[in-house]
Amino acid sequence: MNVALPPFDFEPNQSPVTPDARDALLKDPGFGRVFTDHMVMIRYSDARGWYDAKITARGPLLLDPASAVLHYAQEIFEGLKAYRLADGTMALFRPDANARRFRASAQRMAMPELPDDLFIQSVKALVATDRDWFPAIEGGSLYLRPFMFASEVFLGVKPSAEYLYLVIASPVGNYFKSGAPAVSLLVSQDYTRAALGGTGAAKCGGNYATSLVVQAEAIRLGYDQVVYLDAVERRWVEELGGMNVFFVFDDGSIQTPPLGGTILPGVTRDSLMTIARSEGLTVSEAPYAIDQWRADALSGRLVESFACGTAAVVTPIGSVTDAHGRFTIGAGGPGQLTGRLRERLVAIQRGLAPDPDNWVVRLD
Ligand SMILES: Cc1ncc(COP(=O)(O)O)c(C=O)c1O
Repeated sequence: MNVALPPFDFEPNQSPVTPDARDALLKDPGFGRVFTDHMVMIRYSDARGWYDAKITARGPLLLDPASAVLHYAQEIFEGLKAYRLADGTMALFRPDANARRFRASAQRMAMPELPDDLFIQSVKALVATDRDWFPAIEGGSLYLRPFMFASEVFLGVKPSAEYLYLVIASPVGNYFKSGAPAVSLLVSQDYTRAALGGTGAAKCGGNYATSLVVQAEAIRLGYDQVVYLDAVERRWVEELGGMNVFFVFDDGSIQTPPLGGTILPGVTRDSLMTIARSEGLTVSEAPYAIDQWRADALSGRLVESFACGTAAVVTPIGSVTDAHGRFTIGAGGPGQLTGRLRERLVAIQRGLAPDPDNWVVRLD
């Protein structure tokens, strides 16, 4: 298979957003609504391998209505952020981990595996091109969304013979405007997210499509997020719709559900476990039952819980509601260890704390 490695062809956007309009957008970009001037596009076909790698003007795609993705959802994506370090350099956080997960997702969805190098180069190239879109606001970053979908024009149910890989970039502010508030969770009773042998460990669009009905219902009932239990016993806490979950105990130890095919292996999850261990905390990856969560919260053995992911980094959990009613975690607000882990991770990402594992990848 031939791999068209960078340099990427560059087709500059002929009508980019004016600097004044861009500055106005960057003052309060929110999350995922403002986009930069360019995108990466690489084509794949079984016959040619990866080809036509380019950076081009961001714009609508022209798709044949019989494109396979529109029918059978053969699609995967990633999410990572570019930061501006204290010294002004642009940097990525563990892009190699996202590249590996993208390949793992591709494998599960019978798609071609984009080489890690090409993934990382594509993301770097877009950040370098659109670096003026970096929002110079508190907690600002450039959210990067690499994704790939089946583009063959064919209605047969089989792996597509053609794919499009793209990267778009979206300037974002702090996910939560005033620090991270404690969220209220609703335990999903009627729906599960993933079963063994399914696609829970892959970052494919379908996983999120199935979560929408539950999330919408939770919001309607006044909750912030949904937490899922395992599909077999409906007992073990797995993860939120878009974040992994941690439990903090009164002896200072922390626990998170183990990866086993039904949970997305979060980069933030892995980073926080490493940080916690480096601080001497006991970290276990072990199943945790919803009834135990309630009992431990009531007895005081469990003092904090938090969710984590690239978008919101670390989010304290204030309360959980299941069929037996609501229970409060700790005092219902952000916990101490949760805050400390969040600060430590953010400091590493911004180049303000030692980075012993070389997670920060500078662009210059
Ligand atoms: C289902 C799910 N779990 C966990 C995460 C957290 O993963 P990460 O820390 O790599 O962003 C995400 C977000 O990507 C997610 O969608």
